[in-house]
Amino acid sequence: MSTAKKQYKRITVKSLHEMKQNGEKIAMLTAYDYTMAKIVDHAGIDIILVGDSASNVMAGHETTLPITLDQMIYHAASVVRAIERCLVVVDLPFGTYQGNSRRALESAIRIMKETGGHSVKLEGGSEISESISRILTAGIPVMGHLGLTPQSIYKFGTYTVRAKEEEEAKKLKEDALLLQKLGCFALVLEKVPAKLAKEVADSLYIPVIGIGAGVDVDGQVLVMHDMLGMTHEFNPRFLRRYLNLYDEMTGAFKNYILDVKSKDFPNENEQY
Ligand code: KIV
Repeated sequence: MSTAKKQYKRITVKSLHEMKQNGEKIAMLTAYDYTMAKIVDHAGIDIILVGDSASNVMAGHETTLPITLDQMIYHAASVVRAIERCLVVVDLPFGTYQGNSRRALESAIRIMKETGGHSVKLEGGSEISESISRILTAGIPVMGHLGLTPQSIYKFGTYTVRAKEEEEAKKLKEDALLLQKLGCFALVLEKVPAKLAKEVADSLYIPVIGIGAGVDVDGQVLVMHDMLGMTHEFNPRFLRRYLNLYDEMTGAFKNYILDVKSKDFPNENEQY
């Protein structure tokens, strides 16, 4: 059964705002390659995020910091070649927008020109407002990202829930309003108390997409490899696994190895 209230031929920034107004939740997943993007787009996802989590799940780095703009462009271009309906958001990687709004604009323009993606996402609030404003002047839609911002992991020191204390919650609420005022079309809120996330979503007209932020926001995002159960060392409370692909794939690989070693594969019908 579909819970979508209106059929959208293509998801745009405008349709996401309509969804919020109509109370239709927005479904977002990460993808980093052509094949996965094709499947998830055909399944009806609203937004694909080409996240810098590619640094972890695709490249095996411990943090999101090492991934480069060129590497993000490679992933995003592969995703864009696959999709027909969803909106594609591409993360600007660490070091390509902080503290230098000209550099931020150049990075965002490269993403738009070289990938065909539809928008960019940046982590942070008031401290990156100049970069956001400059990107927006070029007509490039920007998604914000507050709460746990993994590019600042060495400032936080841990990946635990953010904004539990009054002072940090206040700053987050101010930043959320600022991002909306600057012109961001949507906002990701990562790993913050559900009550705070609801308060933020209720106070904004732009959609708030949560990850570990409870149900009372305007949509949800998960990292594809986590929700498919391809990773099993990462077990945050917010993660719901829809498959256990790690075990299923391991089984398939073991069967293949056995078949090759026992000369069961290929059989007569599988050769020329
Ligand atoms: O890079 C990413 O996958 C993200 C999501 C966790 C929101 O930013």
